[in-house]
Amino acid sequence: MNSRLQELEGRIQTRQAEIAVIGLGYVGLPLAVAFARAGFRVTGIDRDEDRVAQLKAGSSYIEDVPEETLRAVLEAERLTATSAGDVLSRCDCINICVPTPLRKTKDPDVSHIVAAVEEVQRRLRAGQLIVLGSTTYPGTTHELYRPMLEASGLQVGQDICLAYAPERMDPGNQEFELQQVPKIVGGETPLCTQLAARMFEPLFERVVPVSSTQAAEMVKLLENTFRMINIGLANEVAMICDRLNLDVWEVIEAAATKPYGFMKFTPGPGLGGHCIPIDPNYLAWKLRSLNFKARFIELASDINGAMPGWVVERALRVLNRDRLPANGSRILLLGVAYKAGVSDARESPAVDILSQLEALGAQVAYHDARVPELALEGRVHKSVDLTDEVLRTADLVIITTAHPEVDFAQVVRLAPRVLDTRNATAGIDLGGRSTVEKL
Ligand SMILES: NC(=O)c1ccc[n+]([C@@H]2O[C@H](COP(=O)([O-])OP(=O)(O)OC[C@H]3O[C@@H](n4cnc5c(N)ncnc54)[C@H](O)[C@@H]3O)[C@@H](O)[C@H]2O)c1
Repeated sequence: MNSRLQELEGRIQTRQAEIAVIGLGYVGLPLAVAFARAGFRVTGIDRDEDRVAQLKAGSSYIEDVPEETLRAVLEAERLTATSAGDVLSRCDCINICVPTPLRKTKDPDVSHIVAAVEEVQRRLRAGQLIVLGSTTYPGTTHELYRPMLEASGLQVGQDICLAYAPERMDPGNQEFELQQVPKIVGGETPLCTQLAARMFEPLFERVVPVSSTQAAEMVKLLENTFRMINIGLANEVAMICDRLNLDVWEVIEAAATKPYGFMKFTPGPGLGGHCIPIDPNYLAWKLRSLNFKARFIELASDINGAMPGWVVERALRVLNRDRLPANGSRILLLGVAYKAGVSDARESPAVDILSQLEALGAQVAYHDARVPELALEGRVHKSVDLTDEVLRTADLVIITTAHPEVDFAQVVRLAPRVLDTRNATAGIDLGGRSTVEKL
């Protein structure tokens, strides 16, 4: 082993290694804080200066990072934040956690990672470990980033180490702490895997090494593709149950009592967030380049992508029953975050539902205490307060996100009509009222 890399291993084991995390969002900030809590000195780098200023002031913009935890690591001088990349030359281990969205054509947009790797490449020195955590297609680290880094003249496995370690966190999930979810690590060489595993060992109860960066990239895409396809199945079963006049929630709950061979997934208004609607497209794109059609992915994408339209159709049906047209009806969407307990409205199906209803002439308002404003097609919508008056005067309330803080019993009691796409009204005594329709 190169002496600089040998030295790096020692520095990691004694927690003297300085860690950089590029991209301080849903993934990067909790990771940076976890490194700091494990005793490392950490520098968080984000090009968003507002975020950097907020962090320096001890204010957390990510729900999963409590402010007291953030303040503790800032005060102990274990974590600093900056928007300047200069510090990278000093850092021993560099974690990249920047976004990987899709282009309008649904092709992968890896420009954020390319920009981050360029920043790293400009300051690269022997004895550094670079770990990519952003979700991406198999081959990205090997085919795209390794040549970029090696253009510096430094050799991966000899002078520097390069690995891929996907993030598996689930924002808003209170059941599993970061350290409880095993960390997958795949390096470009066995030494790269070894050093990356050493870096994560203090943070995770279990580190799972795999044989290559490509395998680690594929693990992440398999996990999210599995989820996306099963949600697609649950959504199709919802449409099937509607045709059969059955309650899909009753059917799924009963099926879920089977202790093996069945895993519970539930239908909803469509996919949202920065992962499930996006990641399988990374895999499908890569396979198209290999002349292979990922049929399961495309089918589930079609079904899931049609769900907002299906919710609108159901809303029209509810209104129509009382001879109300969509045009001019007052519709309240309850929740625009893509799932319960988070403030993230990226790719949220509620946004799609809102625009489709507005296109039909409905007067649409939303309530989501976690998302005070929503910019949509050049207009900014503001969350309305969930008052008795707002509930009473809405022609229809559509429950799009089941945030825990919402009193759904009050919603059911006051709203004249409710369309529940999340089964949020389960267990509420409807008192014989038939005004609640479930997906
Ligand atoms: N959000 C999740 O639940 C989740 C879970 C697992 C994996 N992931 C993956 O992790 C990656 C990051 O996702 P996220 O949700 O944390 O994104 P995010 O948008 O919340 O945060 C990304 C941050 O990176 C910053 N940034 C972008 N380009 C930069 C650059 N060149 N230099 C410095 N900072 C830069 C942005 O300003 C932003 O603060 C994505 O690939 C995503 O697919 C996300």
